[in-house]
Amino acid sequence: MIQEVLVTTQNAEGVTHITPMGIHVIDDDFIILPFRPSTTLDNILQSKTAVINYCNDVRIFAGCLTGRRDWPLTATQKIKGHYLSAALAHREVELIRIEEDPTRPKLYCKTINLVNHSAFQGFNRAQFAVLEAAILVSRLKMLPIEKIEPEIAYLSIGLDKTAGDHEREAWGWLMTIIDQHKQQTVQS
Ligand SMILES: Cc1cc2nc3c(=O)[nH]c(=O)nc-3n(C[C@H](O)[C@H](O)[C@H](O)COP(=O)(O)O)c2cc1C
Repeated sequence: MIQEVLVTTQNAEGVTHITPMGIHVIDDDFIILPFRPSTTLDNILQSKTAVINYCNDVRIFAGCLTGRRDWPLTATQKIKGHYLSAALAHREVELIRIEEDPTRPKLYCKTINLVNHSAFQGFNRAQFAVLEAAILVSRLKMLPIEKIEPEIAYLSIGLDKTAGDHEREAWGWLMTIIDQHKQQTVQS
């Protein structure tokens, strides 16, 4: 199974980097698969640790892809690092094995500490819509606009019916980026 989470990592200077990632869960292993080049990859190779944040504030997913990376952080307990203060739960992990790949290495991690902070609030279609739109934005340069437009039109149905303020705000940030991309595509 793949879970869409926010991964927080630290560089040698102690600066925390936040990024959305789809991590693979196989039995007790958590596999982080960053595409090169990646700050997350560099940080994990250097510190041998990472934090997996389970978060329903989709503004953080959309924010990381639209230049809004400054989200409140709290110090972790068993490893050096930070988790997102908004996380419903977080998992502190240690790197145990690397499967090398020139494009997308596999970083196998084991859990050192798992902490619950708040109850799961149930599924929400608008949150799903924001996640899918965020993935489209992360692939904007690789995808034709003819593929992006119908997907956004479909996702906006669930968004319109079920969004709260956070989801609407996150959606707005993503749509601005897609609109800018469309204008640049038309001009060039
Ligand atoms: C829901 C979601 C899942 C993502 N999963 C991955 C992933 O598994 N690997 C990856 O390299 N990028 C993934 N991305 C894109 C990264 O978040 C983004 O490109 C980021 O800049 C990665 O580079 P960084 O490690 O330098 O921050 C995902 C984006 C979203 C919105």
